[in-house]
Amino acid sequence: MCGIVGYIGNKNSTPILLEGLKKLEYRGYDSAGLAILSDGEISIVRRKGHLEELERAVKESNPEGWVGIGHTRWATHGRPSEMNAHPHIDCTGRIALVHNGIIENFFGLREELESRGHTFHSETDTEVLVHLIEENYRGDLAEAARQSLKRVEGSFAIVVICKDEPDVVVAARKDSPLVVGLGKGEYFVASDIPAILGHTRDVLILKDGEIAKVNQDGVKITTLGNQPVDREVFRVKWGAEAAEKGGYEDFMLKEIFEQPVAIRETLRGRIGADCRISLDEVALTEEEIKNLKKVFMVACGTSYHAGLMGKRIIEKWARLPVETDISSEFRYQDPLVDSDTLVIAITQSGETADTLAGIREAKRKGARVMAITNVVGSSVTREADGVFYTHAGPEIGVAATKTLVAQMAALYVLALYLARARETLSLEEMEKIVAEVLRLPELTEKVLSNHAEIEGCARKYHARSNFLFLGRGMGLPVALEGALKLKEISYIHAEGCPAGEMKHGPIALIDGDVPVVVVATRGQVHEKVTSNIQEVRARGATVITVANEGDEEIAKLADHVFCVPETSEFLSPILAVIPLQLFAYYVAKLRGCNVDQPRNLAKSVTVE
Ligand code: AGP
Repeated sequence: MCGIVGYIGNKNSTPILLEGLKKLEYRGYDSAGLAILSDGEISIVRRKGHLEELERAVKESNPEGWVGIGHTRWATHGRPSEMNAHPHIDCTGRIALVHNGIIENFFGLREELESRGHTFHSETDTEVLVHLIEENYRGDLAEAARQSLKRVEGSFAIVVICKDEPDVVVAARKDSPLVVGLGKGEYFVASDIPAILGHTRDVLILKDGEIAKVNQDGVKITTLGNQPVDREVFRVKWGAEAAEKGGYEDFMLKEIFEQPVAIRETLRGRIGADCRISLDEVALTEEEIKNLKKVFMVACGTSYHAGLMGKRIIEKWARLPVETDISSEFRYQDPLVDSDTLVIAITQSGETADTLAGIREAKRKGARVMAITNVVGSSVTREADGVFYTHAGPEIGVAATKTLVAQMAALYVLALYLARARETLSLEEMEKIVAEVLRLPELTEKVLSNHAEIEGCARKYHARSNFLFLGRGMGLPVALEGALKLKEISYIHAEGCPAGEMKHGPIALIDGDVPVVVVATRGQVHEKVTSNIQEVRARGATVITVANEGDEEIAKLADHVFCVPETSEFLSPILAVIPLQLFAYYVAKLRGCNVDQPRNLAKSVTVE
């Protein structure tokens, strides 16, 4: 997820673009750049690192012009560097472009363009766009962009300028957000409203498959099929801070609601309805996969819970023994790993000290190491042999939410990739699983639509001091994650434990003051979980459950049911965890806690 901006008007665009990028830094901040058009020339300034680096460079070169574009990057293809920073320019230096999204077919397009003599200067997928527009440019930038975007598979929000059309800015989008701000004799283009709120509250929100040509006379929107579009002006009523949160009260809530996109973007280009699983970045040959004897998952906190889910999924689909261990334990226990072991480090930040130490220990013992991370160029990517990037976009809230579901989506793809190489799933089984995995974004939207009911339940129990979370099988990691979410943002003592363990101690905790949250989605152990619910009810507990829609049996037994759509047992955790994230969020808000920055916690634990 990156932030893009554009300006055309009667002021120097440079400070306006920089200010807009600053408002969009929450969308990405590993590198940034500007392209300013003035007197028929385009000046490009790009820097690796945070926006301050670019600001320092701009102060030195001080580019000025009435037209310009800017970009703050969250890398998905190509490590953070000045060379990979946007804007990108074509071979002639005539066209400059910024992009937010993922071009799935960039590899084939790049080969095609290089075969026709185009010279590439970056490792990014984006650069193919500016060379395509170069090829299609016949004096009309909007038409060149339109023709070029028809060749593109994937997601894009672009802003593009051309020195031969100094009074035009062209913007287009598909699956990535883009708005056009309407000023007085000036126009603003941005990924998100915060970037332009300081100048105007009147915006045109572009929809998928639309292209906008912006000049001094105004904004002309058409579809990529060149059909005219009449778009109503949207008047923003939010304040600046709320706008950064997309109108949500907190980043955590915004990120919970971004989960369908986080899943979709992580799956994008890696899993197709035709069962095509592409994971080139993992750098594991079929032979190496066939020779694997064991997988070891190493992680902390929420990522550890993803690893517990991943264990069950890889064992079920790829029939490979998997151990999942907490990094701080793994690193000191002289782990039994060797050259036949694949160690998977799951770390959204890519900077967790114990996880980094764990994979160094694994490499010392000869194991192949792969990282699943959300941050391109993070430390873990320099230690691992292969990297599987989740595409959740920056996660600002300290409590991990969208990065967890993105990790789970990545684990589904990885498990299918291993299963296909090891031929442990029939084509029919693979097709059924893939079809369900591709439905997950839509199903998570459905779960999120029940947020009001979950908030209502939180109102009843937010004052309690202790909670118990129970689950079995695939429900156990969900229960553990639900307990972690509640404790880390509401400071309530919440304990997750295997439902089958109740008689071995935890049942002593039960009385009328301890609400019990039970993950009771359908699966192999559903009736066992049902009897656990009866067990705790018999001792006076209030029971809150996560269960599948239409599960009358659970509905009869529980005091509250958070419903999730039916899916196969192995995909249910990605849905079941969402109501527990929302429950934790609403309880914490009702207790007046700072959900984005909970006390004593850091977003990334870079020390032991
Ligand atoms: C999750 O809500 C916590 N913030 C924490 O447990 C986190 O998951 C853990 O520190 C691991 O972080 P990582 O994924 O960046 O390695």
